[in-house]
Amino acid sequence: STNQSWGGRFNEPTDAFVERFTASVGFDQRLAQHDIRGSIAHATMLARVGVLDDAERDAIIDGLNDIAQEIEADTFPWSISLEDVHMNIEARLTEKIGIVGKKLHTGRSRNDQIATDIRLFLRDEIDAIEAELVRLREGLIELAANHADTIMPGFTHLQSAQPVTFGHHLLAWQEMVARDHERLLDCRKRVNVMPLGAAALAGTTYPIDRHVSTELLGFDRPAENSLDAVSDRDFAIEFTAFASTLLMHLSRMSEELVLWTSAQFDFIDLPDRFCTGSSIMPQKKNPDVPELVRGKTGRVYGHLMSLLTLMKSQPLAYNKDNQEDKEPLFDTLDTVKGSLRAFADMIPAVEAKADNMYAAARRGFSTATDLADYLVRKGVAFRDAHEIVGQSVAHGIRHDKDLSEMSLDELQQFSDTVEADVFDILTLEGSVAARNHIGGTAPDQVRAAAQRARDALATM
Ligand code: ARG
Repeated sequence: STNQSWGGRFNEPTDAFVERFTASVGFDQRLAQHDIRGSIAHATMLARVGVLDDAERDAIIDGLNDIAQEIEADTFPWSISLEDVHMNIEARLTEKIGIVGKKLHTGRSRNDQIATDIRLFLRDEIDAIEAELVRLREGLIELAANHADTIMPGFTHLQSAQPVTFGHHLLAWQEMVARDHERLLDCRKRVNVMPLGAAALAGTTYPIDRHVSTELLGFDRPAENSLDAVSDRDFAIEFTAFASTLLMHLSRMSEELVLWTSAQFDFIDLPDRFCTGSSIMPQKKNPDVPELVRGKTGRVYGHLMSLLTLMKSQPLAYNKDNQEDKEPLFDTLDTVKGSLRAFADMIPAVEAKADNMYAAARRGFSTATDLADYLVRKGVAFRDAHEIVGQSVAHGIRHDKDLSEMSLDELQQFSDTVEADVFDILTLEGSVAARNHIGGTAPDQVRAAAQRARDALATM
């Protein structure tokens, strides 16, 4: 027998390299406070059903609370030869309170313990992430409401298409993040299920009460099947899928922010505190925050693929492979939290350069569709209207003039259906105001949509 916690059936100690290779304590110590929380609930439940007496329970809980403080104060003696966070804490408990500490693991395995720890930990992280998502949504909604009348070019194929309002564009971003918010809350339901009692894989022979631990730990219900309880990591995959979609959205927003801060677009200004300069080019102000968020998207996609691949061939029930779930999950959490915080801080500080946006919308013949619709209202077939407006635009390109800058005579060269009232619809203001229905870009619609978004957020 060796002196390891499972040393009874072993004749020689673990190879020194294998010990380091298989240890997880270097990263899973991040779960320590949740591990302790789970252990306190487990000990409380064991005493409730008579497996521990009250004195034993109290000794265990006091010891665990001491250990929680040591970890907090960074004085806890972490040891690689104790492999993981669970055995480090359990060994320390026995060191502190004596043999009673060895009773904590009754009716439990590290397999249901780790599943519980990750779920408790991820649930707290999800709640913190939700708060940041709410802050980002609020920032987008308020900036949108302030820019319900600010006109900019709308794009398809990144070519000027039709004028829209900046507020409408921002509310499109808000819709993306609102869906991510729903996905996060949906994922949380499947995180919040309680594995304890599954023990190693088959359940336990002790008269446990899983409802007690469920309630003590704030879970919604005990996991239904012990084999599934110890081996399911779907919830981590789902969370990482949520994170991938969110980062994809933040990356799209980043791309636009980067474009818009360029001298060529010059639609917005990002405050200096979110930018950095160049060590060689004195004129530079670089939009590092959105660039970095765009760049970080890749690592989150990678983690999603890691987790899916990690799980794809595992036979039931627990396998050591599962230890590989933590680093991708932790890095996903850090990346999501950092990116969201940066965005939630930055969005309210975005300054729109309304004059530049307006001028850009005028340059791209963005009211061409409005002219075609005008002709259709006067009885021209849409295909003919399309051709007439196409010729008018070609004329504008030759003479460097927007449609609204042409004289009535000029416009009438291409169709005598055009009359003086055409200038009402060729303005950018007229164009956006005409798209006056739910989901349209008219300023009144944008204000109403911002209000609906506030209400929807308040009732989530
Ligand atoms: N460190 C392990 C993990 O992260 C904890 C569970 C280990 N269980 C076991 N039977 N080796 O998954």
